[in-house]
Order: sequence, then structure tokens, then C-alpha cells
Amino acid sequence: MVYYVEMPQARKTGVLGYYLLLCLIGVSVFLSPTGNIIPIHFEPTRDRINCLADPDMGGGGVTNCGNGPCHPNQYGNWSLTGHATHISQYNSSHVMFSDSTIVSYVTFDSDCAECHTSGYDNNTGTYDSLGINCLVCHDASWSAWSDYSGALCSQCHRPAGTAGPHQHLAFQNSDHVDSLNDLRASVTPVAPCMRCHSTESFIHYRNPGMLADDTPNIDTNFDPFGDYNPIGCSACHSVHANWSGSSPSMIRANSSAELCILCHSGGQYPVYEIWNGSSHHLAGVECTDCHGYNLLLNESGSNWVPFLNHTFSVDPEVACGQQGCHDGGLATWALGQLEMIQDSFDALTDEILLEADELQDFLNEYNGTDYANITTAEQIQQAIDNARNLVERYRLDKSRGLHNQWQIFQDLNAVYNDLVAAEAHLTEVTFLALETERVTVTVTVTKTVTEVVTVTKVVPPPESDSRLVISGLGIGGLLAGLAAGVIITRLIYR
Ligand code: HEC
Ligand code: HEC
Ligand code: HEC
Ligand code: HEC
Ligand code: HEC
Ligand code: HEC
Ligand code: HEC
Repeated sequence: MVYYVEMPQARKTGVLGYYLLLCLIGVSVFLSPTGNIIPIHFEPTRDRINCLADPDMGGGGVTNCGNGPCHPNQYGNWSLTGHATHISQYNSSHVMFSDSTIVSYVTFDSDCAECHTSGYDNNTGTYDSLGINCLVCHDASWSAWSDYSGALCSQCHRPAGTAGPHQHLAFQNSDHVDSLNDLRASVTPVAPCMRCHSTESFIHYRNPGMLADDTPNIDTNFDPFGDYNPIGCSACHSVHANWSGSSPSMIRANSSAELCILCHSGGQYPVYEIWNGSSHHLAGVECTDCHGYNLLLNESGSNWVPFLNHTFSVDPEVACGQQGCHDGGLATWALGQLEMIQDSFDALTDEILLEADELQDFLNEYNGTDYANITTAEQIQQAIDNARNLVERYRLDKSRGLHNQWQIFQDLNAVYNDLVAAEAHLTEVTFLALETERVTVTVTVTKTVTEVVTVTKVVPPPESDSRLVISGLGIGGLLAGLAAGVIITRLIYR
């Protein structure tokens, strides 16, 4: 049912005016000269290959590559990064960096332009524009589409005249650069291993379809012996793809810990599972707060500033003693703790394995006797296996106890106690069995078989017995409690 309501004339005019205003806004947006006030993307009208090969790429290259119909997403993400925003013209004779450093064009052109501009020409020292645009990294043809080895990044992210934490050199000392060689040298190099051991496969795993859709030359079968690169800059950093804006330093995750655990978790690599819930984790300490944490003297030499050392190794003195952690007098204490934790870890795990081996020999001996009992043997074997598996798991972690000291030592102590208890149990069982046998022998010779059975029965199963006592006590306590309750209530409400 629809009701028609007569509107007052004034209201009608108002509504009409409102519609006219909307039309006006629409038309002005549509006709606006830049078309950029509200970005409207039309279907691509140009061939993507022509887009990159476009001869007028030199000056207006960035806008042509990205802002038009070709790669709007890459352009949008790239324009948020330091490569696009870190530098601008300050006045006609100076440039300014994002940290407010101001340098004259004379200095800039001779000392800085090589790494801080696009289209830099080695021979003439000239360049096209400030900042790092698309064509610095992308050739104007598909064949030299991009670089996955990190060689490109290292052209600039290397030591220069200025004291900078340039990442290339440090990273050469990180084990990550061996990731592909080590995989190839292993017993079972297969394609699924590649997602943590090669740059291309990791990108494919993180940003599905990216390699296949936009980079036609990459084979996505990821044969470990194929033409791929080990983990390098582009595995961890995405200079524009799927970059959410919240991701620090363009890494392929929302936080550095999230990035590390994409590979350092599960199966053979239980670092994450072990670290998760540790006191450091609960205190908000991330992987890179320890791994790679380092200090650098600033340009004026007045202050030490933190930076990420791309070796990703831990320098305990600097890492533990950082401000807000174990600074001041606590640094020595923390280093002492670290040493104690790691030494105790080595000693305790060695001791557990030794104990497990000894018990295994004992068990093997027991299994060879005619009084061996299957259930007992299984229980002892279980204790040995548990201990060995736990030690193996915690050793795979490689931090030697540090990643979760409380949990690790609690668990190790528990399996160690189980081993000791199992050994005591086996000793007792063996002793009793031998006792019984001795009695059996003497008894069988002199008396009847029925009595032998009685003798065996005399040996009390200690566990069920103590359980009986406990439940007896429990029920007794319960009854006593009930009676006391009744009496007290009666006394009170008499
Ligand atoms: C070999 C290449 C190279 C040269 C030459 C070079 N830089 Fe850099 N510069 C870099 C890289 C790479 C970074 C980014 C490193 C980082 O963030 O850790 C950087 C970062 C900076 C930063 C801090 C980031 C910012 O923009 O806020 C400043 C400031 C800077 N450079 C100034 C200079 C000046 C001034 C010169 C010339 C005197 C110069 N650089 C020469 C490669 C270079
Ligand atoms: C600092 C170097 C660098 C700059 C600058 C750069 N790229 Fe890339 N680009 C790469 C690398 C490396 C890859 C390989 C995949 C990856 O690392 O994400 C790539 C991949 C691509 C791809 C294919 C993969 C995808 O993301 O779908 C496109 C398209 C692309 N870039 C477009 C652009 C455009 C457009 C710009 C400029 C707005 C640009 N790039 C600026 C380094 C760069
Ligand atoms: C989930 C990610 C991931 C997968 C999948 C993966 N690895 Fe690894 N691999 C790692 C990490 C992380 C390390 C470094 C471990 C460490 O030192 O804590 C590593 C280290 C190695 C090493 C060097 C060992 C050493 O002690 O230096 C070899 C060899 C290796 N992996 C082989 C393989 C093989 C073979 C496969 C496939 C069957 C595989 N990996 C699959 C993440 C992975
Ligand atoms: C194993 C992963 C990984 C690899 C490989 C890697 N980085 Fe990083 N990088 C990071 C993380 C994590 C950060 C810090 C992110 C943050 O701000 O929390 C970072 C930060 C940076 C920064 C920002 C400045 C700073 O020091 O914090 C630059 C520049 C950088 N990396 C360049 C490179 C270059 C160049 C390479 C190759 C030589 C490279 N990275 C390889 C993980 C990696
Ligand atoms: C032509 C020189 C040049 C090349 C090539 C280059 N960079 Fe940079 N990069 C710079 C400069 C200069 C800065 C400083 C800008 C800043 O500090 O914000 C920088 C900053 C960065 C930052 C930190 C800035 C931010 O926004 O978080 C990362 C991460 C980075 N580069 C990664 C890479 C990777 C990965 C590659 C290779 C795919 C690469 N760069 C190639 C010059 C270069
Ligand atoms: C793309 C997968 C991947 C990511 C992401 C990654 N790693 Fe690794 N990492 C590996 C592999 C594979 C190795 C083993 C390399 C080898 O020795 O062959 C390794 C080795 C290491 C090692 C040396 C271990 C050893 O056996 O000596 C450290 C430390 C390390 N990574 C820390 C980090 C940290 C911290 C992060 C996060 C910033 C990180 N990794 C991110 C795959 C990754
Ligand atoms: C509180 C500091 C701290 C935190 C947080 C931390 N680690 Fe560690 N990590 C260490 C120390 C210390 C070692 C032992 C290094 C040694 O003895 O050389 C270690 C060892 C390692 C190793 C073996 C390194 C080698 O050279 O064999 C890997 C891999 C690793 N950590 C990865 C990670 C990852 C991934 C995270 C985050 C999930 C993380 N760590 C968090 C301090 C830390």
C-alpha cells in the first residue's frame, strides 16, 4: 500500500533546488580539468607494454607508468613510500630531505644525486627528477622487468660517504643469503621448500598471482634447481605491492615479528611456537628488538640512534642493555642471566639425553628377559621418547633456552623427573621379578604350584593400593565434613 502525501509548495521548491545542486556538483567534477579531484579510473585504453615503452617516459615517467591506466595500484602504494616522498626542492638552490636536512644543489649534485634521484647519468652527472621512481627499477621492456636478486637495491643501499646504516653489506653476513645453496645441498630439496628459501617463491606465496599476472617471465613451478634467487631484499620488502600503509619500511607484513614468523615457524622451525607466550613476548619484545638491534652514532656525533642491523644476529651487550629493557646496572645482570640460561640449557639437555640412553640400554636388557611385561616396557619407552623429542624440539629452536626460558626449563625438568621415576620403577620391577623368581625356584622344588601363585599375589601393586587409601580418606573426609556441617547448623539454628 502506498500513501501519497501532498507536500507544501515551499518544500517542493527546496527538494528541486537540492537535486539541481547535486547535478551541478556532478557536472563540475566530471568536467574538472585535472579529473583528479575524485579519481575515476576508466578501463585501460592503452596496451600495457606500450605504457612502459612509451618514448616520453623520461620526464613524466612516473605519472605515465602509474597514474594513468597502467599500474594505478603500484603507483598508489609507491607514492606513499620514502622512495617517492623523502626529498623535495627546498628553494632554487637547495633540496630538503624528509628529516629536514637541507643541502645545496652543488653538494647534492656531486655527492648525493647518484642515489637520491631518478635517471641519474654516471657520465654527465645529470638526472631527471628527485626521488626514486618506477624507471630506476624497471626497464622499459618486459625482458628486464625487475630484479629479484637484490643487486638493484644494493646499488644505493650500500655505504656512501655519509655514515648511513646502508643495508647491503650487513645483509651479506646474514645466513639468509645462503638459503638457496643450503636447500640445494640438503637431502630433500623439493618445490614446497622454496617458499621460505627463495625470494620469488616467497613473493608468490605472500602476494598470490603477482608473479604470474604481472611478470610473465617467472616460472611458478619453483624447482629448487631452477633459475631463482635466495632470500634477498625483495622477499621481505615489497616496494609497492599490496602495501597497506600500516606496514613499516614496506615489509610484507604488518609488523616485523609477523614477517619473521612466516618462515620461522612450524615443523622443523618451531621458533615462533616456542617464543609465543614467553616473558619477552608478553612484554612486547619483537624478534627485531633483539635480532639486528644496534646503535649508530648520528651525523653530528652527539647521539646514539637505534637501527636495524641486517645481519639479523643478536649482539647481547647492545640488545639486552637497550633503553627500557635492562639498561643501566641491569645490563650486567641480564648478560649474566643469558649466559646462565644458555649454559644450563646445554648441560640439562646433555644430561637428559645421557639419562635417556642409559635407560634405553636398561630397557633393552629388560625386554630380553622372560619376566618382561609389555605395559611396563611401553610406559618406560614412552618416557624415553618424550624426553628425546622434547630435547630435539628445543634444540631446533637454536636460542639455547632463551626464547622462552621459564617454559623450556619447566618442560625439561618435567621430562627429566619422568626419566628418573621411570628408571626407579624399572629397577623396582626388575628387583621384584628377580625376588619372585628366586622364591619361585625354591618354592616349586619343595611345595605345590598353587602356593607359588599365592607368593606372587603377595607382591602388592603399589599404585592401586595408594589410590584406595586416597579415595578411602577422601570419602571419609567428605562424610566427616557433612556431619560437622549438620552439627554446626543445628547448633546455630537451635
Ligand atoms: C650510495 C648511495 C647514497 C649516497 C651517495 C647518498 N645517500 Fe643518503 N641515503 C641512501 C640510502 C639507501 C638511504 C636510506 C637508508 C636507510 O633508510 O637506512 C639514505 C638516506 C638518507 C637520509 C635519511 C632519509 C631521509 O631522506 O630522511 C638522508 C638525510 C640522506 N640520505 C642524505 C644524504 C646526503 C646529504 C647525501 C650526499 C652528501 C647522501 N645522502 C648520499 C643512499 C645514499
Ligand atoms: C625501488 C625499486 C622499484 C621502484 C621504484 C618501483 N618498482 Fe615496481 N617492482 C620492483 C620489484 C623489485 C618488483 C618485483 C616484485 C616485488 O618486489 O614486489 C616490482 C614489480 C612490479 C610490478 C609487477 C608486480 C606487481 O606488483 O604486480 C609492477 C606492475 C610494477 N613493479 C610497477 C611499478 C610502477 C608503476 C612503479 C612506479 C610507480 C614502480 N613499479 C616502482 C621494484 C620497483
Ligand atoms: C616454513 C618455512 C620453511 C620451509 C617450508 C622450509 N624451510 Fe628450511 N629453513 C627455514 C628456516 C627458518 C631455516 C633456519 C632455521 C634456523 O636456523 O632456525 C631453515 C634452514 C634450513 C636449512 C639449513 C639448516 C641449518 O641448520 O643451517 C636447510 C638445509 C633447510 N632449511 C632445508 C629445507 C628443506 C629440504 C625443506 C623442504 C623439505 C625446507 N627447508 C623447507 C624455513 C623453512
Ligand atoms: C629477512 C627479512 C629482510 C630482508 C631479507 C631485508 N630486510 Fe630490510 N628490513 C627488514 C625489517 C623487518 C625492517 C624493519 C621494519 C620496521 O621498521 O619495523 C627492515 C628495514 C629496512 C629499511 C629501513 C631502515 C631501517 O634500517 O630500519 C631499509 C632501507 C631496508 N630494510 C633495506 C633493505 C635492503 C636494501 C635489503 C637487501 C640488501 C633488505 N632490507 C633485506 C627485513 C628485511
Ligand atoms: C636509486 C637508489 C635506490 C634504489 C635502486 C633503491 N633504493 Fe631504497 N631508498 C633509497 C633512498 C635514497 C632511500 C631514503 C628514503 C627514506 O629514507 O625514506 C630509500 C629508502 C628505502 C626504504 C625505507 C623507506 C621507507 O619508506 O620505509 C626501504 C625499505 C627501501 N629503500 C628498500 C629498497 C628495496 C627493497 C630496493 C630494491 C628493490 C630499493 N630500496 C632500491 C634509494 C634507493
Ligand atoms: C622468507 C622466509 C624468511 C623470512 C621472512 C625470515 N627468515 Fe630468517 N631465515 C630463513 C631461512 C631459510 C634461514 C636459513 C638460511 C640458511 O642458513 O640456509 C634463515 C635464517 C635466519 C637466522 C640465522 C639462523 C641460523 O641458522 O644461523 C636468523 C637469526 C634469522 N633467520 C632471523 C630472522 C628474523 C629476525 C626475521 C624477521 C625480520 C627473519 N629471519 C625472516 C627464512 C626467513
Ligand atoms: C629477547 C631477545 C630475543 C627475541 C625477542 C627473539 N630472539 Fe631469537 N635469539 C635470541 C638469542 C639471544 C639467540 C641465541 C643467539 C646465539 O646464541 O648466538 C637467538 C637465536 C635465534 C635463532 C638462531 C640463530 C642462530 O644463529 O643459530 C633464530 C633463527 C632466531 N633466534 C629467530 C627469532 C625469531 C624469528 C624471533 C621472533 C619470533 C626471535 N628470534 C625472538 C634472542 C631473541
